[in-house]
Parts: sequence; C-alpha cells; structure tokens
Amino acid sequence: MTIDLQKQKERAVLVTIEEIGKESWKLEDRKEELEALAKSCGVVAVSEVVCRIKSFTPKFLIGKGKVEEIGEIVLENKADVVIFSYDLSPSQQNNLEEVVQTKVIDRTQLILDIFATRATSNEAKVQVELAQLMYLLPRLSRMWLHLSRQRGGVGTKGPGEQQLEVDRRRVRERIAKLKKALKEITEQRDPKRMQRKKTSMLTVSLVGYTNSGKSTLFNSLTEANIKAKDQLFSTLDPTIRKIKIGDNQTILVSDTVGFLHDLPHHLIESFKATLEETVEADALLHVIDMNDPRIEEQRSDVFSVLEELKVHDKPIFSVLNKVDLVNDEYEKMRIMRKFENPIVISALKKEGLTELMDRITGLLQQDMEDIDITIPHKHTNLAKVIHSKGNVKSEKYTEEGVHIIARVPKMVKYSIFKQLKSGEEGKS
Ligand code: GTP
Repeated sequence: MTIDLQKQKERAVLVTIEEIGKESWKLEDRKEELEALAKSCGVVAVSEVVCRIKSFTPKFLIGKGKVEEIGEIVLENKADVVIFSYDLSPSQQNNLEEVVQTKVIDRTQLILDIFATRATSNEAKVQVELAQLMYLLPRLSRMWLHLSRQRGGVGTKGPGEQQLEVDRRRVRERIAKLKKALKEITEQRDPKRMQRKKTSMLTVSLVGYTNSGKSTLFNSLTEANIKAKDQLFSTLDPTIRKIKIGDNQTILVSDTVGFLHDLPHHLIESFKATLEETVEADALLHVIDMNDPRIEEQRSDVFSVLEELKVHDKPIFSVLNKVDLVNDEYEKMRIMRKFENPIVISALKKEGLTELMDRITGLLQQDMEDIDITIPHKHTNLAKVIHSKGNVKSEKYTEEGVHIIARVPKMVKYSIFKQLKSGEEGKS
C-alpha cells in the first residue's frame, strides 16, 4: 500500500499536469479524475496545483521552480503525500521527493492502490500484487537511498546496497511465484464465489466510469433492504449485497471498480481481474453520469472492455444517473435519445429507483423460455431453483438425475446452464 489506509486520512497535494498543445483530454476533466481517485483512496486533498508545460524535464518532469513551489505548499499544509496526474519515472519520483521532502506518488500508483482495495477474489489479488511488484521493482533503490549513503569501504558494499540486492531478489522471486500461482488459480474456483453460486441467486453487477455514482446507487438500492441482510451475506465481501425485488424474489447486487480514461496499458489485466463479478453476473447495470461531457466516449470505452470480458451479450441496462443536475428538459431528452431504453435516475435523491427495480423484476418475470434438462443428482439445488422461479410442466427421476421440462425466465435458464457448466469444469 502506498497510501496508508490505516492512518486516518492522509493529506495530499494534487498536481495536475497539462502538456500544452498535446492534451486530448481537458485539464478540468483530468483534475476532476485525480480528485475522484484520491477520494477513493480515502485521501484528503489539502491543495491543488496545475502545471501547464510545453515540454517535460527529465529530472522532475516539471520545472524546478514549480517543484519548489509545491515543496512550500507541502510545508504550509503539512501534507503527507504529493500525487501527480502523470506517470513519473523512478528517478523523477526520487528527485521530487528530495525537494518536496515528502512522499511523491503518481496516477498509476494511486490506481494500483484502489485496485488492491477492490480485489476480492484470489485471482484479482494475485493479479494486482503482481502489477504492484512490477511497478515497485525499478523503484526499490530510492527506498534504500538513505542507507546507501552509509557506504562501506573500498570493494565492500554499504548496508543499504546489500539490503537493496536482497530486496530485489526477493521481489523477483515473489513475482515468479505469483505468475505461477496465477496460472493455477485461474483454473480453480474461489470459495466465496462457489458459496454464492450454491445459493443459485441471480447477480446484477454495477459497471461504469469512476464517479458515475455506482457506489451511491449500490447504497441506495441496498439501504431499503437492510432487512434482507443475513449472516451468510454479511460474511461475503462488502461490495456484494442482497436485495429483494418484485413480490418475493431476491437477487445479489455487486459494485465494481470504476472505469478510467487512459488506463495505463500494464494495468489492464489487473483491472479486468477486479471485474470478475461482472463476468459472473447475470445482468449488468451500466451507470452513466448524465452530466459528463464525455458521455459517448465513455460508453464506447466501457463497451470495449465488456466485449473483451465477453459479457456484452448479457442483458445490459443503461442507467442514466444524476438527473437532478440536469435542469433543462430538452437536454435530458437529447441525452436519453443516445441510449436504447434508458432508465433515468438520481441515485443520490433516490429518484427513479422503483422503475429500475421494476425493470430488473421484468427481466426475471418476462422473457420466459422453455427448458428441457436433466439435472445431475449432485445439483438438485438447481431443480429447486426451477421450481421456485418457473413453471414446471413435467419432472422425472432417472439414473442420471432429474429430468425437468419447464418454462423459466431467460436469466434463470442462462444461470442454470452456467452453473452446470462451471460444475463440470470444476470437476475436470
Ligand atoms: P468510483 O468508486 O470512483 O468508481 O465512483 P462511483 O461510480 O462509485 O461514484 P460515487 O457513488 O462515489 O459518486 C461519485 C460522486 O457523485 C459523489 O460525490 C456522489 O455523491 C455523487 N453522486 C452520485 N449519484 C448522484 C446523483 O444522483 N446526483 C448527484 N447530484 N450526485 C450524485
């Protein structure tokens, strides 16, 4: 962890960089994103600095005068960390720390910290640790710099250098181990996910850009369902909760880590690993901030990741959020027209949530399909699901299992086949 989550609220100076003439992304948007990322890490922004520069310097990225200015701001505000919106090389990070006299981190490191807090499955944890170590390896030397200065005599190495070599070796060994573990883990099943699967409950996953309001919606949807909370689910990770919809149906809702513009390429694998819940989900709620000027660009970013995860053929609801901030009715209609059958809500003001729940219920109840299936005896829980969620026309016990002909919601059918398939895969 580079941001100390244990320590109550680290104080940060945020530095947003704009490369004059080269920016495709507006300075204001970059600044807002940095604020949102810092907030997600539980950091308090005590001051913000904007640097508009023509060309980067190899030593500090920005000009020396600006670095000194940041150093003064750090001192004045008693800041613990300076966060740059731009990637820094290990030596730039080191040089900056010497001048500002406090920890300096960049956007990649911040994103890795967020992924680390959001990685729930074994695979995601390994994937994120791997990315963190790869990031750390070339930066290890600066951590031992102070010790290196206590150099030993000619031909011998100071304690700092020796320790650095040991650390580098350890990190490389750990990287090799994690890579091997990753291979094995992908074939295994995470116990938490298995536990969820055994419940045969349908899962809806919230996806969308950072700051679109996923967590607010997650809380608003589940707050009204406090009673639905039970022991089993409180033992699961905090990003999954149980909610009641329709007459008497229960589904699981999972929150996910937000999408980011310009995600550093080497972080894509860890990001996808944190989205495992999305891969497992039966339907997706794509949460979109109606006020975001980059709405179209963000939609295509989200869809291309969903395509890569091979989940784009699942039912996906476009949930247009923050309608309370859209004052102009014409503007509202203009945005709505861009999406197919959108649901307009305000997660914060709890508006439109009934329609949202109705649409999910509709997905469960309408769209029925025939199912003709033999369920192996060890999966009898799935037969119970068919009974509770569909209309059974006939049921016969055979040597292989229970042969059922029924009419069930499309989502249920999808989920049953998925579980039978994963049961088979788990066996092989
Ligand atoms: P990440 O965790 O970074 O992925 O963000 P998120 O998508 O979970 O967004 P979050 O729920 O943290 O909301 C981001 C900001 O938008 C917060 O300041 C919320 O209070 C605000 N917000 C969320 N929903 C609404 C809404 O319906 N209306 C208004 N006005 N603000 C909202």
